[in-house]
Amino acid sequence: MHKIIAANWKMYKDRTQAATTAGELAAVLPEILPAGREVIVFPPFTAIESVARVFDGKKGLAVGGQNFYPAPEGAFTGEISIDMLRDVGAQWVLAGHSERRHVFGESDELVARKAVFALSHGLKTMLCIGEKLEEREQGSLYAVLERQLMAFFEARPDGMAGETLPGRLAIAYEPVWAIGTGKVAGPGEVREAHGVTRALLERFVGDSGKKLPILYGGSVKPDNAGALIALDNVDGLLVGGASLEAQSFLQIIGA
Ligand code: PGA
Repeated sequence: MHKIIAANWKMYKDRTQAATTAGELAAVLPEILPAGREVIVFPPFTAIESVARVFDGKKGLAVGGQNFYPAPEGAFTGEISIDMLRDVGAQWVLAGHSERRHVFGESDELVARKAVFALSHGLKTMLCIGEKLEEREQGSLYAVLERQLMAFFEARPDGMAGETLPGRLAIAYEPVWAIGTGKVAGPGEVREAHGVTRALLERFVGDSGKKLPILYGGSVKPDNAGALIALDNVDGLLVGGASLEAQSFLQIIGA
């Protein structure tokens, strides 16, 4: 399976800063990006177009939106639609990032509806899942991942069969306790959670579940990226803080 290295810039960078960092990536990546690796950057909304311009036509580089509302258009003050994201060059979206779930209170049901909506409207979707510290300590890792994934797989309309998902759906496993905390999950914990995720994907969509990439996210840094990406059930990385500087993100991409 090819590997996806994604950057989540959260609420950082204006247009100029975003274009500068994207330019630093685009200047070298087309030459050094190993075959079969894909890089996706999720800038804030206002900078998507700037990054898309810089990445345009560059092999292996894509841009995405961090959030959207699951309706074609309408009276939804403050929200943004899938078509609007596509219009500024987004090819991907995130759904269910832990900050959306836990800071903004998005439910499993809303996240599932958003992921289904984005896929039905032609954007590739990275569905984020992950447990909180107390859930891990209570031994409910399996139950949490099952609940989050089941919400999505059960919300799919009839036309969205498992076979249609590889190539346009990626899963990002991000333990909430490791996001922005500097506490990276150890190799054993990552291997276990990815194993659980893979088994659940296969339960929901059979063999197609083997072909959906599972990324790890949570305090990925240049010095731990190599060990994480080397794990045989890690198909990519979703990087927050360490993706803001081109040099640090490039080290992670090359790890
Ligand atoms: P972090 O963020 O790398 O800063 O922990 C990861 C994420 O939120 O996707």
